[in-house]
Amino acid sequence: MTAEQNELITRIGPGTACGAVLRRYWQPVALVDEFDPRLDPRMAQRPLKALRVLGQDLVLFRDASGRWGLLDRNCPHRGADLAFGRHEGDGLRCPFHGWKFDAAGRCLETPAEPAGSKLCQRVTQRSYPVLEKSGVLFGWFGEAGAAPPFPDGFDCFRAPASNSFAFKGLWHCNWLQAFEVGIDPAHPSFLHRFLNDTALEAIGDNAAGRQFRSASAGEIAGEKWPMSRIMREFHQPDITYEERPWGLQLTALRPMTEDLTHVRITQAIFPQAFVIPLSETLTITQWHVPVDDEHTYWYSFFTSFAGPVDREAMRNQRLQFISLPDYIPKSGRHNQWGFNPEEQRSRTFLGMGEEDINVHDQWAVESMGPIQDRSREHLGTSDKVIMANRRLLLQAIETVQAGGTAPGLADAALATQMQGPDTVDGIAPAGAWATWSQERVQAKRAGAPWLGGVQPALEAQAS
Ligand code: FES
Ligand SMILES: [Fe+2]
Repeated sequence: MTAEQNELITRIGPGTACGAVLRRYWQPVALVDEFDPRLDPRMAQRPLKALRVLGQDLVLFRDASGRWGLLDRNCPHRGADLAFGRHEGDGLRCPFHGWKFDAAGRCLETPAEPAGSKLCQRVTQRSYPVLEKSGVLFGWFGEAGAAPPFPDGFDCFRAPASNSFAFKGLWHCNWLQAFEVGIDPAHPSFLHRFLNDTALEAIGDNAAGRQFRSASAGEIAGEKWPMSRIMREFHQPDITYEERPWGLQLTALRPMTEDLTHVRITQAIFPQAFVIPLSETLTITQWHVPVDDEHTYWYSFFTSFAGPVDREAMRNQRLQFISLPDYIPKSGRHNQWGFNPEEQRSRTFLGMGEEDINVHDQWAVESMGPIQDRSREHLGTSDKVIMANRRLLLQAIETVQAGGTAPGLADAALATQMQGPDTVDGIAPAGAWATWSQERVQAKRAGAPWLGGVQPALEAQAS
């Protein structure tokens, strides 16, 4: 990849080619939790946050009637900062000269102007539509009125509040490298390798950041194996991908014996989200949203296909590693991501803790530097999904520049096909892993009270 191509696919501010692509998709901008006074006491007084998304400075507030307002941060009068505005219930008033705006950006008052002034009617603050979905607020930064349908058919948005939990965290790196670690089926065998396994009974579904400790579906010689053992012992996955309406379906096969293969099917939702299994009944759908070119928030949706989740417990587990109110990890470059050479020698491949595997990924993406220099990398066969995704992105940039429709979620014509998408992790009969995977998906969906017997979206390829 040339340095110019790398610039093209990483820069996302207003006016950039890649930014124009990302602005064709709904973008997560905040957790609803960020407005919960129990988690951020400031919200009791003033439910308002300053945000930065796609290199744009914004202010997000909830008015007294519950409407969300997402506005440009600079006052349209003379540019003072509306993040310091007076929250007056029905709108936000700039403290400089008292101009007031409602959640839709309409100017309500310009009190310093003479009586009878019509100035107010001619002024609008730029506002962005907001949708509240499964505990996350999504904003639309594209052309007004051109937003594609929201993918309400995805499981992470169909699951009722009782079965879903959303969380986020900040990474000090470009959005694309944050996404590229999530769609890399080879890395768990190394980056997340545990040199020893923990007894499966000791792992609850909700254990924060311990996803590779859970059991893989299926058995080998009558025994359940934790994913960690499979990842460690079979580290050369046979990786394939297939196009799907939302992006790419990724399959990683790890042949274990003559008769058995481990299969892991995950999904890449173009341009910035993935879906992976956390256990047989829990998935993570994770978006990677540029704050600016060098910072990214990941937003995770945990979706349970079985019983309800304990959100309080899930949040508290994660708050051991991430600080409120801005969801900043406690580990980072400043403390070497908690690196411990003794642990690296005896317990984990990386040496950055066993409790929070999120920090492993954080190290991988942050240690490259804020924007990875892709002109100096050397890609191999195991990077084929990374390459395929970059080709899709370059293609989308070209399409959007030529005035065309961006792919996947941005294409309204595909809206009804945005279902699932499904994931699998398990030990399957080697010759019949595809059918076996479909059966697992069927069983998972049949067990989800909130799905009511919907057909699986997974069409695994014939093996
Ligand atoms: S700058 Fe906001 S009212 Fe004057
Ligand atoms: Fe990872």
